[in-house]
Amino acid sequence: MDRIRIGGGRILTGAIPISGAKNAALPLMIASLLTRETLTLHNVPRLSDVRLLMRILGNHGIDAAISGKRIGQSEESGETITLCARDIVDTTAPYELVSRMRASFWVIAPLLARMGEARVSLPGGCAIGTRPVDLLLMALEKLGVEIEIDGGYAVARAPKGLIGGEIDFPKVTVGGTHVALMAAVMAKGETTIINAAREPEIVDLAECLTKMGAKIEGAGTERIVIEGVPRLDGAHHHVLPDRIETGTYAMAVAMTGGDVLLEGARRDLLDSALAALEGTGAHIAQEEAGLRIKRNGGGILPVDITTEPFPGFPTDLQAQFMALMTRAEGNSRIHETIFENRFMHVQELARLGAKISLDGDVAVVEGRRKLKGAQVMATDLRASVSLVIAGLAAQGETVVNRVYHLDRGFEALEKKLARCGADIERLSGEK
Ligand code: EPU
Repeated sequence: MDRIRIGGGRILTGAIPISGAKNAALPLMIASLLTRETLTLHNVPRLSDVRLLMRILGNHGIDAAISGKRIGQSEESGETITLCARDIVDTTAPYELVSRMRASFWVIAPLLARMGEARVSLPGGCAIGTRPVDLLLMALEKLGVEIEIDGGYAVARAPKGLIGGEIDFPKVTVGGTHVALMAAVMAKGETTIINAAREPEIVDLAECLTKMGAKIEGAGTERIVIEGVPRLDGAHHHVLPDRIETGTYAMAVAMTGGDVLLEGARRDLLDSALAALEGTGAHIAQEEAGLRIKRNGGGILPVDITTEPFPGFPTDLQAQFMALMTRAEGNSRIHETIFENRFMHVQELARLGAKISLDGDVAVVEGRRKLKGAQVMATDLRASVSLVIAGLAAQGETVVNRVYHLDRGFEALEKKLARCGADIERLSGEK
């Protein structure tokens, strides 16, 4: 199993190209099941989650191809993939695949829309919490779907086809909103989604569906109205830049010091996280080519944060911000409100010398810690990358194990950081 070795203590300077967003690419790929025509996605990040989803979609009968490189494209420019679901050959998504990637549960919506039936394994728990799918199933039931749970599978049928309705989410859910959108676009009549998630990835999916012929109003607000259409066509769509990758590298620079241009990044996608970073003393400027982040000398000021649905501070940047706060000039308070168990990084940060106390969903981070390199590992993607950031600022050598978590969501992580002067390399194979 690969590991990443980091020699800490170097400042970061240069430029990092920001990849297409994993959490936009996945639902966009799933949306290709909605049409017999070809969906072409540009700027798709090279990630193991994308490869796995291609396999899962292949199981349903999708022909997927990755286009060759074009002149002028660097190794880091995203890929163009084409997906064509001319005939859906299988409406079952098996446990072996869904349990490896929760988002693949979302195929339930387009399978129902196209075939009137789906049998999809329940994803089960994961490292960051229980993560139920009750609200996703509730949304489908509002559109006339009959669902029973049998042998660990959600067996869903829409005998009269999907029928527009009102879906009022009691809690904001990104996956629930993706599923509701994909089910409603070809339902008969009008669907209203109330208390919809407003994440930029929802807007990206809605924009792509609109190019495919869907009629959607209000994506990016709490109320989305969809007028069903009988069929969707193919389209071309560019995946939006990854706001979590952007925030992660911005936090790395805020921690090590330096000056880095995050190419292609957009402030409007992560305003609240950048405002918190500015509170710590980092300078951030939107330039034409992307976002520039600088911290020269000066201490890191402590800032309290609370994770919230968009436009609040994203839970997917909580672990990285915690790493930064271990070096702040005072104590800070981090309140996690989205996932009940998303503090798995606390014990690993402690191995590097951090002092963090937990009380339910609140972590109090003691500042002014001198971090020292160590062997660490983590059980989820964002927790793993928080250890990389901490390692960059620690004294001596840090080795991050279980790198496959990083490969799920960060394209060419070690190459991008090394280009900015970090001492970081991938060590392959068993120790
Ligand atoms: N929830 C329910 N019932 C449901 C669905 C969700 O109770 O039926 C709860 C969840 O347990 C959680 C909250 O609602 O407490 C929000 O969950 P949400 O549905 O918004 O999360 P998700 O769609 O499963 C996506 C991202 C996550 C990100 C969250 C929150 C993708 C592929 N995943 O998950 O990303 O943390 O939204 O922003 O888009 C990651 O990339 O590392 C990652 C975990």
